[in-house]
Amino acid sequence: MASSSLFHLCVFVMCLVTITASSASLSPNYYDYTCPKALPTIKRVVEAAVQQERRMGASLLRLHFHDCFVNGCDASILLDATSNIDSEKNALPNANSARGFKVIDQIKYEVDKACGAPVVSCADILAVAARDSVVALGGPKWNVQLGRRDSTTANRTLADNDIPSPFMDLPALISTFQKQGLNTKDLVALSGGHTIGFAQCFTFRERIYNETNIDSSFASQRQATCPINGGNSNLSPLDPTSAKFDVAYFTNLVKQKGLLHSDQALYSSGSTSELVKSYSKNADAFWKDFAKSMVKMGNIKPLTGKQGQIRLNCRKVN
Ligand code: HEM
Repeated sequence: MASSSLFHLCVFVMCLVTITASSASLSPNYYDYTCPKALPTIKRVVEAAVQQERRMGASLLRLHFHDCFVNGCDASILLDATSNIDSEKNALPNANSARGFKVIDQIKYEVDKACGAPVVSCADILAVAARDSVVALGGPKWNVQLGRRDSTTANRTLADNDIPSPFMDLPALISTFQKQGLNTKDLVALSGGHTIGFAQCFTFRERIYNETNIDSSFASQRQATCPINGGNSNLSPLDPTSAKFDVAYFTNLVKQKGLLHSDQALYSSGSTSELVKSYSKNADAFWKDFAKSMVKMGNIKPLTGKQGQIRLNCRKVN
């Protein structure tokens, strides 16, 4: 009897040691014991949101990207402006552009309810919602690393500086990604995120009226809904199948039909052209590399252990 108690004590101590040791790094099983319902709940809300509006899948994927590129994946993008918070929502790449915040609120509400306590971070919700969005639109599945904690700060200036602009050429895109520890392959694979979703006229007007490395019929087609003056927020699909996670984005680049200057920059005599061409012919390779790069992006500077907090409301510091 005594030896059995000792055995149980040892198992308990070993569990504690394991939990403490693993808290500094992310793991796909992070919520298995604290809230096994977390992942199915996120999936359910994302699927319903995407069913209601296909574009929401694209918007949620982009939110995770814009979160991770500003001081790591810490849900800083979700904080509303206050006297202490210079909200990233007001940064140029996000203002009147980043969307999906209400869906994230709803996920947080449902997840906290399902878990019976606020144990899941907003940063992890963003990472899982991005994966579930890609899957809902027919793309690859991957195991999301979990255990990120939420920031208590936001940085609008960094969002302005570190999120890439659609007017960048290849060297600038490469260095923006390099700054985050992501290489040229990650840049090309992750840019494939533009296989879903839309862009506003002002982000590609210059390209469709003034650039020469563009298919002329494609340019005229886009000009029809993006006038030379006005209509700044008119939307165009980033590729012809904007609700389907396929390789049309890459086949389009090869045909000089990239919508953004930064898209076409990946296929215009630079070092990335071969990779674009190979993804355009090989959906499996794109899917595999996209999933791998999403995990890598999701691992950018996470807050773990006792750092940061688990927000009660994703829009506010506790
Ligand atoms: C490589 C540099 C990138 C640039 C310059 C860029 C730029 C842009 C721009 C300008 C838009 C349109 C925003 C608007 O008009 O409101 C957009 C949309 C989008 N971006 Fe990117 N992006 C880049 C990389 C990525 C990455 C890495 C991902 C995800 C992995 C991504 C996912 C998306 C999605 C899904 C949309 C559509 C969002 C929606 O319809 O709501 N982008 N991007």
